[in-house]
Amino acid sequence: MSQIDCTPVSSPRVVELACGAGFLAEALFRQIPAARFCGFDLSPHLLEFARRRLAPDENSPLTKKEVEFQRVDLVNDDWEQVLSKLGWAGKVDAVISMQALHDLGGLEQQTDVLTRSRKVLHAGGQLVYGDLLLKSEDPHPSRFTVAQHQEMLRAAGFAPVHAKKDTAARAAARFGDFGCFERRK
Ligand SMILES: C[S@@+](CC[C@H](N)C(=O)[O-])C[C@H]1O[C@@H](n2cnc3c(N)ncnc32)[C@H](O)[C@@H]1O
Repeated sequence: MSQIDCTPVSSPRVVELACGAGFLAEALFRQIPAARFCGFDLSPHLLEFARRRLAPDENSPLTKKEVEFQRVDLVNDDWEQVLSKLGWAGKVDAVISMQALHDLGGLEQQTDVLTRSRKVLHAGGQLVYGDLLLKSEDPHPSRFTVAQHQEMLRAAGFAPVHAKKDTAARAAARFGDFGCFERRK
């Protein structure tokens, strides 16, 4: 079994899946200005918004060497290779995503992206995401229930956690159809 390293790091390597226009990245840099960051998204237009959101001035995260936004298709492209080129393979501290995994397709595609996310994390690295949940009154082919997310995470190799660790129930009470999931490699 690999050694789990949970030591807090001052410059964590953070990968965001489907970062869109960079709202979460902006919030991340407000909290952790020294973070190293790689945001992936399919849309060149949204990536351009993200770059402008963090527009370079002398204090901008984008002036740092290890902050970038890259256009990839998370389902069909080899984005792990992008991380390998950065020297990040197996060294990522956190993979994050906000209300986006439902855009990747069905169970199979989402599970595959979660499996690949686990591979780029170091032992003890964290996966945290929030996404829209399936509502019985509004069926959607790529939104899933809390139980289905938990099963995808298990199939992706993440150890199960106590159900209370998933904040979906609390979040659903507040937001209606939004679940949050957190796992460690
Ligand atoms: C609902 S938006 C959320 C964006 C961002 N996370 C936010 O909360 O503002 C979904 C995002 O997923 C991206 N996306 C959809 N399919 C993708 C794919 N196959 N690979 C990478 N990004 C994808 C879209 O371009 C879009 O930016």
